Amino acid sequence: MKQALITGANRGIGLELTRQLLTRRDRVIATCRQPAQAIALQDLTNEFGDRLLILPLDVSDDASVRAAKTAVSGRVKSLDMLINNAGILIGSETLSNFDSAIMQRSFDVNAVGVMRVVTQFVDSLRLGRDPKVVNVSSQLGSLQKMRRQWGRYSYNSSKAALNMISRMLSFDLQEDGIALVVLHPGWVQTDMGGVHAAVSSQDSAAGILQVADSLTLATTGKFYTYAGEEHPW
Ligand SMILES: NC(=O)c1ccc[n+]([C@@H]2O[C@H](COP(=O)([O-])OP(=O)(O)OC[C@H]3O[C@@H](n4cnc5c(N)ncnc54)[C@H](OP(=O)(O)O)[C@@H]3O)[C@@H](O)[C@H]2O)c1
Repeated sequence: MKQALITGANRGIGLELTRQLLTRRDRVIATCRQPAQAIALQDLTNEFGDRLLILPLDVSDDASVRAAKTAVSGRVKSLDMLINNAGILIGSETLSNFDSAIMQRSFDVNAVGVMRVVTQFVDSLRLGRDPKVVNVSSQLGSLQKMRRQWGRYSYNSSKAALNMISRMLSFDLQEDGIALVVLHPGWVQTDMGGVHAAVSSQDSAAGILQVADSLTLATTGKFYTYAGEEHPW
């Protein structure tokens, strides 16, 4: 039985990851910005009882991440898996209507948010069994795959930053025995991906967990798809 922590667990891929981890009998600390409004997540407590702990955590807020760390430390000694799933795709900026606030917010959540969470929880991961960090990025953060009119400046560049953060973290964390993978979850049927997306949240989450399960210190620091293929940077 593993102890996982997930960000952005109230809907979309994060909710499905939570459900699948609980179904396979792992323990999950499911975090989200507004637990009181996370009805689908709360419903899982009826089925899975005390293996699910729901805590508030806003990845863009230092105090919120610190408070979550304190709350977690009071309840569990260690973490075996940290899934940095929370992310935003906002605005519709182009070269002619650039909005710096949208770009700053995207970086704050998609890239800096992961640093906030990892730096707070690295101590708990150091005490975990076969500990792993899973960073949910996007193919839109790939420099090599970028082509004309694909995505947005804010989102793509924030995910590219997350990819570099993940590479750098992988070297530092490896010294502590913590493996890391950065993942493209597919084009997924969520609020972000829309109804016409190609992949169900169930298939995406199942693939993400399979990649995470097969991750070792020998394969740390790579960019994969949810289908288990290596992704170009
Ligand atoms: N869906 C796709 O096709 C696709 C493709 C590539 C990559 N991704 C990535 O996959 C991840 C999950 O996306 P999704 O499709 O499940 O999106 P989603 O349905 O829009 O869910 C996004 C999640 O992130 C949370 N979140 C946003 N800002 C946050 C913050 N400041 N602190 C904590 N949580 C925050 C949201 O919480 P609230 O409800 O509070 O807003 C929500 O739980 C994201 O990192 C996304 O970039 C998705």
